[in-house]
Amino acid sequence: MLRRLHKEQPASFEFTPANLAWAKGQITKYPEGRQASAIIPLLWRAQEQEGWLSRPAIEHVADMLGLAHIRALEVATFYFMFQLQPVGTVAHIQICGTTSCMICGAEELISVCKERIAPTPHTLSADGKFSWEEVECLGACTNAPMAQIGKDYYEDLTASSLNRLLDEMSGGRAPVPGPQNGRYASEPLKGLTSLKDHDAGKAQYNASVQRAVDLRDGIKRIDGTEVPLLTPWLGKAAKPAKAKAEKPAAAAAPASAPAQKPTGLAAARDGGADDLKRIKGVGPKLEALLHGLGYFHFDQIATWTAAEVAWVDDNLEGFKGRVSRDNWVAQAKALAEGGKD
Ligand code: FES
Repeated sequence: MLRRLHKEQPASFEFTPANLAWAKGQITKYPEGRQASAIIPLLWRAQEQEGWLSRPAIEHVADMLGLAHIRALEVATFYFMFQLQPVGTVAHIQICGTTSCMICGAEELISVCKERIAPTPHTLSADGKFSWEEVECLGACTNAPMAQIGKDYYEDLTASSLNRLLDEMSGGRAPVPGPQNGRYASEPLKGLTSLKDHDAGKAQYNASVQRAVDLRDGIKRIDGTEVPLLTPWLGKAAKPAKAKAEKPAAAAAPASAPAQKPTGLAAARDGGADDLKRIKGVGPKLEALLHGLGYFHFDQIATWTAAEVAWVDDNLEGFKGRVSRDNWVAQAKALAEGGKD
Protein backbone atom coordinates (compact mmCIF):
# COMPACT_ATOMS: atom_id res chain seq x y z
CA MET A 1 0.00 0.00 0.00
CA LEU A 2 1.31 3.40 -0.96
CA ARG A 3 1.53 5.65 2.07
CA ARG A 4 1.73 9.33 1.30
CA LEU A 5 1.42 12.46 3.37
CA HIS A 6 -2.04 14.00 3.29
CA LYS A 7 -2.58 16.64 0.64
CA GLU A 8 -3.85 19.16 3.19
CA GLN A 9 -1.42 19.96 5.98
CA PRO A 10 -1.65 22.28 9.00
CA ALA A 11 0.71 25.24 9.10
CA SER A 12 2.55 24.07 12.22
CA PHE A 13 2.73 21.61 15.09
CA GLU A 14 3.57 22.04 18.75
CA PHE A 15 3.45 19.55 21.59
CA THR A 16 1.32 20.62 24.55
CA PRO A 17 3.58 21.70 27.44
CA ALA A 18 2.97 18.43 29.29
CA ASN A 19 3.58 16.33 26.18
CA LEU A 20 6.74 18.33 25.49
CA ALA A 21 7.99 17.56 28.99
CA TRP A 22 7.17 13.91 28.45
CA ALA A 23 8.97 13.89 25.09
CA LYS A 24 12.09 15.52 26.54
CA GLY A 25 12.03 12.97 29.33
CA GLN A 26 11.91 10.12 26.81
CA ILE A 27 14.93 11.48 24.96
CA THR A 28 17.03 11.26 28.13
CA LYS A 29 16.47 7.48 28.17
CA TYR A 30 19.01 6.96 25.43
CA PRO A 31 22.81 7.14 25.54
CA GLU A 32 24.65 10.00 23.96
CA GLY A 33 24.48 9.90 20.20
CA ARG A 34 21.47 7.57 20.27
CA GLN A 35 18.71 10.15 20.79
CA ALA A 36 17.23 9.20 17.41
CA SER A 37 16.03 6.02 19.12
CA ALA A 38 13.28 8.12 20.69
CA ILE A 39 11.63 8.67 17.33
CA ILE A 40 8.89 6.06 17.65
CA PRO A 41 7.61 7.18 21.08
CA LEU A 42 7.74 10.84 20.07
CA LEU A 43 5.89 10.27 16.81
CA TRP A 44 3.38 8.15 18.69
CA ARG A 45 2.79 10.86 21.28
CA ALA A 46 2.33 13.41 18.51
CA GLN A 47 -0.30 11.13 17.01
CA GLU A 48 -1.95 10.57 20.37
CA GLN A 49 -2.20 14.33 20.73
CA GLU A 50 -3.53 15.15 17.25
CA GLY A 51 -5.06 11.85 16.13
CA TRP A 52 -2.78 11.67 13.08
CA LEU A 53 0.69 12.68 11.93
CA SER A 54 0.96 15.80 9.83
CA ARG A 55 4.12 16.80 8.01
CA PRO A 56 4.81 19.63 10.51
CA ALA A 57 4.48 17.12 13.37
CA ILE A 58 6.92 14.68 11.76
CA GLU A 59 9.40 17.46 11.03
CA HIS A 60 9.01 18.86 14.54
CA VAL A 61 9.95 15.48 16.01
CA ALA A 62 12.91 15.23 13.60
CA ASP A 63 14.12 18.67 14.74
CA MET A 64 13.84 17.67 18.41
CA LEU A 65 16.07 14.67 17.72
CA GLY A 66 18.54 16.46 15.47
CA LEU A 67 17.53 14.30 12.50
CA ALA A 68 17.19 15.15 8.85
CA HIS A 69 13.48 15.44 8.08
CA ILE A 70 13.67 12.57 5.62
CA ARG A 71 14.74 10.20 8.41
CA ALA A 72 11.57 10.87 10.40
CA LEU A 73 9.46 10.78 7.25
CA GLU A 74 10.89 7.35 6.46
CA VAL A 75 9.78 6.02 9.85
CA ALA A 76 6.35 7.67 9.80
CA THR A 77 5.53 6.44 6.32
CA PHE A 78 6.85 2.91 6.94
CA TYR A 79 4.79 1.87 9.95
CA PHE A 80 1.06 1.39 9.42
CA MET A 81 0.30 2.32 13.01
CA PHE A 82 1.00 5.92 12.07
CA GLN A 83 -1.99 7.64 10.52
CA LEU A 84 -0.96 9.97 7.74
CA GLN A 85 -4.35 11.56 7.21
CA PRO A 86 -6.89 13.10 9.58
CA VAL A 87 -8.95 10.59 11.56
CA GLY A 88 -12.36 10.97 13.14
CA THR A 89 -12.54 13.48 15.97
CA VAL A 90 -14.26 10.86 18.13
CA ALA A 91 -12.65 7.61 16.98
CA HIS A 92 -10.77 5.76 14.30
CA ILE A 93 -12.17 2.22 13.89
CA GLN A 94 -9.66 -0.48 12.95
CA ILE A 95 -11.44 -3.65 11.86
CA CYS A 96 -9.36 -6.81 11.80
CA GLY A 97 -9.86 -8.48 8.44
CA THR A 98 -7.52 -11.46 8.82
CA THR A 99 -8.52 -15.13 8.73
CA SER A 100 -10.26 -15.76 12.09
CA CYS A 101 -12.07 -12.45 12.05
CA MET A 102 -13.01 -12.78 8.39
CA ILE A 103 -14.44 -16.28 8.98
CA CYS A 104 -16.40 -15.02 11.98
CA GLY A 105 -17.97 -11.96 10.40
CA ALA A 106 -15.47 -9.17 9.78
CA GLU A 107 -17.12 -8.42 6.46
CA GLU A 108 -20.35 -7.51 8.25
CA LEU A 109 -18.40 -5.12 10.45
CA ILE A 110 -16.76 -3.53 7.43
CA SER A 111 -20.21 -3.14 5.88
CA VAL A 112 -21.33 -1.23 8.96
CA CYS A 113 -18.32 1.05 8.63
CA LYS A 114 -19.02 1.64 4.95
CA GLU A 115 -22.64 2.49 5.63
CA ARG A 116 -22.22 4.56 8.77
CA ILE A 117 -18.84 6.17 8.33
CA ALA A 118 -17.67 6.34 4.73
CA PRO A 119 -17.65 4.01 1.70
CA THR A 120 -13.86 3.98 1.62
CA PRO A 121 -11.29 3.53 4.40
CA HIS A 122 -9.27 6.49 5.71
CA THR A 123 -12.16 8.81 4.90
CA LEU A 124 -13.92 10.98 7.44
CA SER A 125 -17.61 10.52 8.10
CA ALA A 126 -19.87 13.38 7.05
CA ASP A 127 -19.88 14.78 10.60
CA GLY A 128 -16.12 14.27 10.92
CA LYS A 129 -16.52 12.10 14.01
CA PHE A 130 -15.35 8.75 12.65
CA SER A 131 -13.01 7.10 10.19
CA TRP A 132 -12.16 3.47 9.63
CA GLU A 133 -9.72 1.04 8.06
CA GLU A 134 -9.17 -2.69 7.73
CA VAL A 135 -6.07 -3.96 9.52
CA GLU A 136 -4.16 -7.20 9.79
CA CYS A 137 -4.50 -9.66 12.71
CA LEU A 138 -4.41 -7.84 16.05
CA GLY A 139 -3.77 -11.00 18.05
CA ALA A 140 -7.22 -11.38 19.57
CA CYS A 141 -8.26 -14.21 17.25
CA THR A 142 -10.05 -16.22 19.95
CA ASN A 143 -12.44 -13.31 20.31
CA ALA A 144 -13.02 -12.82 16.58
CA PRO A 145 -14.30 -10.74 15.00
CA MET A 146 -12.83 -7.74 16.69
CA ALA A 147 -11.81 -4.13 16.22
CA GLN A 148 -9.30 -1.82 17.82
CA ILE A 149 -10.88 1.51 18.59
CA GLY A 150 -8.45 4.02 19.99
CA LYS A 151 -6.32 2.20 22.55
CA ASP A 152 -8.76 -0.60 23.28
CA TYR A 153 -9.94 -3.88 21.79
CA TYR A 154 -13.66 -4.51 21.25
CA GLU A 155 -14.17 -8.23 20.76
CA ASP A 156 -16.80 -10.81 19.85
CA LEU A 157 -18.46 -8.17 17.71
CA THR A 158 -21.53 -8.37 15.53
CA ALA A 159 -22.97 -5.77 13.19
CA SER A 160 -25.49 -4.96 15.89
CA SER A 161 -22.95 -4.52 18.69
CA LEU A 162 -20.67 -2.41 16.46
CA ASN A 163 -23.63 -0.17 15.64
CA ARG A 164 -24.34 0.18 19.35
CA LEU A 165 -20.69 1.09 20.05
CA LEU A 166 -20.77 3.77 17.36
CA ASP A 167 -23.99 5.16 18.82
CA GLU A 168 -22.46 5.33 22.28
CA MET A 169 -19.25 6.98 21.11
CA SER A 170 -21.16 9.41 18.94
CA GLY A 171 -23.13 10.37 22.05
CA GLY A 172 -19.94 11.18 23.93
CA ARG A 173 -19.74 7.98 25.95
CA ALA A 174 -16.80 5.58 26.21
CA PRO A 175 -18.24 2.07 25.99
CA VAL A 176 -16.65 -0.73 27.98
CA PRO A 177 -14.13 -2.58 25.78
CA GLY A 178 -13.47 -6.30 25.69
CA PRO A 179 -15.90 -9.06 24.66
CA GLN A 180 -19.28 -7.69 23.63
CA ASN A 181 -21.15 -11.01 23.91
CA GLY A 182 -20.97 -11.58 27.66
CA ARG A 183 -17.70 -13.50 27.65
CA TYR A 184 -15.37 -12.61 30.50
CA ALA A 185 -12.16 -13.04 28.49
CA SER A 186 -11.29 -15.71 25.93
CA GLU A 187 -12.78 -18.75 27.66
CA PRO A 188 -14.84 -21.22 25.58
CA LEU A 189 -18.09 -19.73 24.29
CA LYS A 190 -20.07 -22.45 26.09
CA GLY A 191 -18.39 -21.73 29.39
CA LEU A 192 -15.46 -23.09 31.37
CA THR A 193 -14.84 -26.79 31.37
CA SER A 194 -11.83 -26.80 33.69
CA LEU A 195 -10.18 -24.39 36.15
CA LYS A 196 -13.67 -23.06 36.70
CA ASP A 197 -12.84 -20.57 39.42
CA HIS A 198 -11.20 -17.96 37.19
CA ASP A 199 -11.11 -14.33 38.24
CA ALA A 200 -14.68 -13.69 37.17
CA GLY A 201 -15.78 -14.04 40.76
CA LYS A 202 -13.25 -11.50 42.00
CA ALA A 203 -13.34 -8.72 39.43
CA GLN A 204 -16.10 -7.38 37.24
CA TYR A 205 -13.91 -7.34 34.14
CA ASN A 206 -10.82 -9.15 32.93
CA ALA A 207 -7.54 -7.37 33.66
CA SER A 208 -7.24 -5.60 30.30
CA VAL A 209 -10.78 -4.32 30.35
CA GLN A 210 -10.56 -3.34 34.01
CA ARG A 211 -7.45 -1.28 33.27
CA ALA A 212 -9.18 0.40 30.34
CA VAL A 213 -12.25 1.16 32.45
CA ASP A 214 -10.06 2.60 35.20
CA LEU A 215 -8.12 4.85 32.80
CA ARG A 216 -11.00 5.81 30.52
CA ASP A 217 -8.64 7.26 27.94
CA GLY A 218 -9.31 4.77 25.15
CA ILE A 219 -10.49 7.25 22.53
CA LYS A 220 -9.30 10.43 24.19
CA ARG A 221 -6.69 12.72 22.64
CA ILE A 222 -3.68 12.68 24.98
CA ASP A 223 -2.39 16.09 26.12
CA GLY A 224 0.11 14.69 28.62
CA THR A 225 -1.73 15.65 31.80
CA GLU A 226 -3.45 12.26 32.13
CA VAL A 227 -0.74 10.27 33.83
CA PRO A 228 2.25 11.08 36.04
CA LEU A 229 5.40 11.93 34.13
CA LEU A 230 7.75 9.19 35.32
CA THR A 231 11.46 9.59 34.66
CA PRO A 232 13.02 7.24 37.23
CA TRP A 233 16.22 7.02 35.17
CA LEU A 234 16.86 10.66 36.07
CA GLY A 235 17.21 9.69 39.71
CA LYS A 236 13.62 9.74 40.86
CA ALA A 237 10.12 9.95 39.55
CA ALA A 238 9.27 13.42 38.34
CA LYS A 239 6.15 15.11 39.57
CA PRO A 240 2.91 14.53 37.70
CA ALA A 241 2.70 16.50 34.50
CA LYS A 242 -0.17 18.56 35.92
CA ALA A 243 2.18 19.89 38.56
CA LYS A 244 4.45 21.71 36.11
CA ALA A 245 6.40 19.07 34.26
CA GLU A 246 8.02 21.29 31.67
CA LYS A 247 11.51 20.64 33.01
CA PRO A 248 11.80 16.95 33.90
CA ALA A 249 15.58 17.00 33.78
CA ALA A 250 15.77 19.59 36.54
CA ALA A 251 13.60 17.37 38.71
CA ALA A 252 16.72 15.44 39.70
CA ALA A 253 17.89 18.42 41.75
CA PRO A 254 16.38 19.12 45.16
CA ALA A 255 13.45 21.50 44.99
CA SER A 256 15.22 23.76 47.47
CA ALA A 257 18.16 24.30 45.12
CA PRO A 258 17.41 26.94 42.48
CA ALA A 259 19.50 26.40 39.38
CA GLN A 260 22.73 28.38 39.32
CA LYS A 261 25.36 28.52 36.61
CA PRO A 262 28.74 27.18 37.79
CA THR A 263 31.68 29.49 37.21
CA GLY A 264 33.41 28.65 33.97
CA LEU A 265 36.78 29.42 32.37
CA ALA A 266 37.43 31.34 29.18
CA ALA A 267 39.84 28.61 28.13
CA ALA A 268 41.54 25.49 29.46
CA ARG A 269 44.32 26.08 31.97
CA ASP A 270 47.94 25.63 31.00
CA GLY A 271 48.58 22.07 30.09
CA GLY A 272 45.33 21.78 28.24
CA ALA A 273 41.88 20.45 29.02
CA ASP A 274 41.26 17.17 30.78
CA ASP A 275 39.78 14.40 28.68
CA LEU A 276 36.22 14.84 29.86
CA LYS A 277 35.21 11.81 27.82
CA ARG A 278 36.66 9.73 30.65
CA ILE A 279 33.49 10.59 32.54
CA LYS A 280 31.03 7.81 31.79
CA GLY A 281 28.24 9.15 29.59
CA VAL A 282 30.31 11.98 28.11
CA GLY A 283 31.15 11.68 24.45
CA PRO A 284 32.66 14.09 21.94
CA LYS A 285 29.47 16.11 21.54
CA LEU A 286 28.94 16.56 25.25
CA GLU A 287 32.59 17.38 25.75
CA ALA A 288 32.31 20.11 23.11
CA LEU A 289 29.16 21.42 24.80
CA LEU A 290 30.96 21.53 28.13
CA HIS A 291 33.90 23.37 26.62
CA GLY A 292 31.47 25.86 25.14
CA LEU A 293 30.08 26.49 28.61
CA GLY A 294 33.55 27.01 30.09
CA TYR A 295 34.16 23.61 31.71
CA PHE A 296 37.44 21.93 30.80
CA HIS A 297 38.67 20.16 33.93
CA PHE A 298 37.59 17.37 36.26
CA ASP A 299 38.20 19.54 39.31
CA GLN A 300 35.69 22.10 38.00
CA ILE A 301 32.91 19.51 37.68
CA ALA A 302 33.90 17.84 40.96
CA THR A 303 32.88 20.94 42.92
CA TRP A 304 29.45 21.52 41.39
CA THR A 305 26.71 21.95 43.97
CA ALA A 306 23.19 20.58 43.54
CA ALA A 307 22.05 23.98 42.25
CA GLU A 308 24.89 24.03 39.73
CA VAL A 309 24.16 20.47 38.63
CA ALA A 310 20.54 21.54 38.07
CA TRP A 311 21.68 24.44 35.89
CA VAL A 312 24.03 22.36 33.75
CA ASP A 313 21.45 19.57 33.53
CA ASP A 314 19.02 22.05 32.08
CA ASN A 315 21.45 23.69 29.68
CA LEU A 316 22.88 20.71 27.86
CA GLU A 317 20.76 21.06 24.76
CA GLY A 318 19.82 17.61 23.55
CA PHE A 319 21.35 15.92 26.63
CA LYS A 320 19.34 17.39 29.48
CA GLY A 321 19.54 15.58 32.78
CA ARG A 322 22.81 13.78 32.01
CA VAL A 323 24.86 15.30 34.84
CA SER A 324 22.64 13.90 37.56
CA ARG A 325 21.69 10.74 35.67
CA ASP A 326 25.32 9.63 35.35
CA ASN A 327 26.54 11.30 38.55
CA TRP A 328 29.26 13.31 36.86
CA VAL A 329 30.27 15.07 40.07
CA ALA A 330 31.33 11.86 41.83
CA GLN A 331 33.01 10.59 38.68
CA ALA A 332 34.87 13.86 38.16
CA LYS A 333 35.94 13.91 41.79
CA ALA A 334 37.48 10.46 41.50
CA LEU A 335 39.21 11.39 38.26
CA ALA A 336 40.46 14.70 39.68
CA GLU A 337 41.95 12.93 42.67
CA GLY A 338 43.50 9.96 41.01
CA GLY A 339 43.52 10.40 37.34
CA LYS A 340 44.25 14.00 36.53
CA ASP A 341 45.81 14.38 33.13
S1 FES B 1 -7.54 -12.67 12.93
FE1 FES B 1 -8.50 -10.96 13.84
S2 FES B 1 -7.39 -10.72 15.68
FE2 FES B 1 -6.39 -12.34 14.71
